[in-house]
Amino acid sequence: MIEDPLIDIKNATIYRGRTCVFEDLTLRIDQCEPTAILGPNGSGKTTLLKVINRELYPVRRDDSWVRILGRENWNVWELRSHIGIVSHDLQASYRNTVSGLHVVLSGYLSSVGVHGSLARRISTDQTSVAKRVMQMLGIDSLIHTPLNRMSTGEQRRCLLARALVHDPDTLILDEPTAGLDLAASFDYLARIRRLITAGKNIVLVTHLLNEIPPDIDRVILLRKGKIVADGTKSDVLTEKNLSRTYDIELRLAKVDNYYLAYPTNG
Ligand SMILES: Nc1ncnc2c1ncn2[C@@H]1O[C@H](COP(=O)(O)OP(=O)(O)OP(=O)(O)O)[C@@H](O)[C@H]1O
Ligand SMILES: [Mg+2]
Repeated sequence: MIEDPLIDIKNATIYRGRTCVFEDLTLRIDQCEPTAILGPNGSGKTTLLKVINRELYPVRRDDSWVRILGRENWNVWELRSHIGIVSHDLQASYRNTVSGLHVVLSGYLSSVGVHGSLARRISTDQTSVAKRVMQMLGIDSLIHTPLNRMSTGEQRRCLLARALVHDPDTLILDEPTAGLDLAASFDYLARIRRLITAGKNIVLVTHLLNEIPPDIDRVILLRKGKIVADGTKSDVLTEKNLSRTYDIELRLAKVDNYYLAYPTNG
């Protein structure tokens, strides 16, 4: 059986407020195709993830579509069991006093935190799964800890657990290591690598080339809402492509299937 692509975008025009971020965007990402998306600030990376996650819709037109897993229409609930998301935005939207467990449980409600009557919609089975996922990610000690007493890395792991409660096939990660120290970033990346090995698909947005796990082989470069390069990592991550994307001169090093960009002296 041929699987529907994770995302199939055809000629899409997508606005954020009054800003036209993408005009006639065409892009396909398959279900078992871990992919990294890179590009300068404001190039449209988060916007693209929000389109995949059904937070943003394209302008309606006859010759244009955005299909997620083969369908144009989804209810958010149903989509959550297929696609989990971890982002900066999401982390910032939580109240500081919400506990680690409630952040994770909120994944079941597609909401931010578990308050009042919402708490009654959580079953004991769901609570057990949430605790198990927290244990798997090494954050079971944070079950009762409020967010404002956690480090950024601990908060980020709670959000990863939140995305994993549904055991989704795909995880969408928007700068998942932003603000984490080296050890926390590497720990997070090791967990992501294990998830890829376990068969999860990953769509990763990052600013750091060295944080593209070797297991991700497709890279898309975005610049001002246009795809400037798309292909295998070794074809796309070249000094020429990156210089063109970021409008700067740079040098590129490759060690053990990891890449690193650094400035030229000139
Ligand atoms: N809520 C919003 N309302 C209006 N315009 C927005 C909004 N959010 C983003 N934009 C605009 O949309 C464009 C793309 O933004 P987007 O957040 O997708 O960029 P990005 O590639 O994720 O950047 P960064 O690397 O800084 O996260 C930018 O020009 C930005 O100013
Ligand atoms: Mg962004």
